[in-house]
Amino acid sequence: MSTTLDRVLDHIDASFDASLERLKTLLRVPSVSTDPAHAGDVQACAELTADLLRQAGLDATVHTTPGHPMVVATGGNPDGHHVLYYGHYDVQPADPIELWDTAPFEPTIAGEGDERRIVCRGAADDKGQLMMFVEAMRAWHEVGGGMPLRITVLLEGEEESGSPSLDPFLQEHCDMLRPDVCIVSDTGMWNRQTPAITTMLRGLVYLDVKLSGPSHDLHSGMYGGAVVNPLNELTRILGGLHDNDGRITVEGFYDGVRDPASAKQWATLDFDEAAFLDSAGLQQSTGEANRTVLERIWSRPTLDINGICGGYTGEGAKTVIAAEGRAKVSCRLVPGQDPQCIEAALIAHFETRTPPGCTWAIQGHGCNPAIEVETDSPWLRGAVDALGTEFDNDTVLCGCGGSIPVVGSFQSILGAQSLLVGFGLDDDRVHSPNEKFDLICLHKGIRSHAAIAEALAHVGATAT
Ligand code: BES
Ligand code: ZN
Repeated sequence: MSTTLDRVLDHIDASFDASLERLKTLLRVPSVSTDPAHAGDVQACAELTADLLRQAGLDATVHTTPGHPMVVATGGNPDGHHVLYYGHYDVQPADPIELWDTAPFEPTIAGEGDERRIVCRGAADDKGQLMMFVEAMRAWHEVGGGMPLRITVLLEGEEESGSPSLDPFLQEHCDMLRPDVCIVSDTGMWNRQTPAITTMLRGLVYLDVKLSGPSHDLHSGMYGGAVVNPLNELTRILGGLHDNDGRITVEGFYDGVRDPASAKQWATLDFDEAAFLDSAGLQQSTGEANRTVLERIWSRPTLDINGICGGYTGEGAKTVIAAEGRAKVSCRLVPGQDPQCIEAALIAHFETRTPPGCTWAIQGHGCNPAIEVETDSPWLRGAVDALGTEFDNDTVLCGCGGSIPVVGSFQSILGAQSLLVGFGLDDDRVHSPNEKFDLICLHKGIRSHAAIAEALAHVGATAT
């Protein structure tokens, strides 16, 4: 005899094309949170996700914040365990647009058979991923009368720009939001055949630094050699941020750094380094000496220059000493590092190296710590079992080099643990041109969320 879950899964299979069309509608909205020019699109996207949640049988509200809106929806079985689902409907900028093969906000299906994928900014990060649980909720609603859990959905519109409104919002609404457990749908699988639950995320510190010198751009023949060149100085200072062994030279940077608890497990993972490098179009890895690639991306802190600008970059030559130079610099943090201390140490690093005749303007874009989540709980075991059945394969507990600030906020403000269940792949090109999400991941992700809901509904009364 078929169970309700069987019927929900069949319904998901039968309505997959419609699910895909709904995802396309969401992807067409250019909800770039970091760019004020897109504020209207971000608002429109919030309204659209609220509509999709209502169609899935939930009560949805778009809450205004000092920044972009938060979408909150509630529903499901009022007597069930309370699960808070999180995703973000904002996306990274599409730049550089000229490197896209198709229009960045026009979802396009590419590939054949099991290789079919949807190409669009936000396909994997994070609209495709949030739509997986929304579609699973819709299927439970249409087949079984609603999710077997009491659910709250929180969709954020500022994740890609540092989540400035998140903590105040969680504080204000903590009684309504506080769940038994959270499900965060914004990470990846181990590979196409193997599901994963992420148990550690790196933190982030991000600075915008501007070095100014002369009062205006100067002729480099008239002044060059006799006056300070902010771009020469800025790049010299940036170039000194790493030593020859790939270690970061900022004083105190490694203070307190420890190997995360889950690192031991990672040593046993069968990591395909060549495939990982291939997803970046490379054959060799670089970084801190004497560290594996998994350590470098999951458990070691890093510093990256994310952008540099200044001076003349147009066609042909222009002999000029630019009055100022700018750079965006960020650090990925690991357990034991205090984001505020790292930010202060970085600022001090720049300030103690101020070239004569120059001044800095330094602006922070948010700070968040590395996060470790529980690696064993009845919730996690339920999710692992459900994923194992769906994929007919063991679930890998892995780390993640990226940051999802909400996970720390759920811990500190709501006192809740998160299950980081995601279906992205290393070659999804998140934050890059031609971002994509495999349709098989989308389909299996919807099925998995439906099955995880069933598994969590059965977690025993002793589980908290
Ligand atoms: N979905 C990503 C986090 C992620 C990255 C998961 C790679 C799995 C693999 C998330 O949306 C993201 O990009 N976060 C930002 C956070 C930042 C802007 C505070 C990040 O990691 O850069
Ligand atoms: Zn994301």
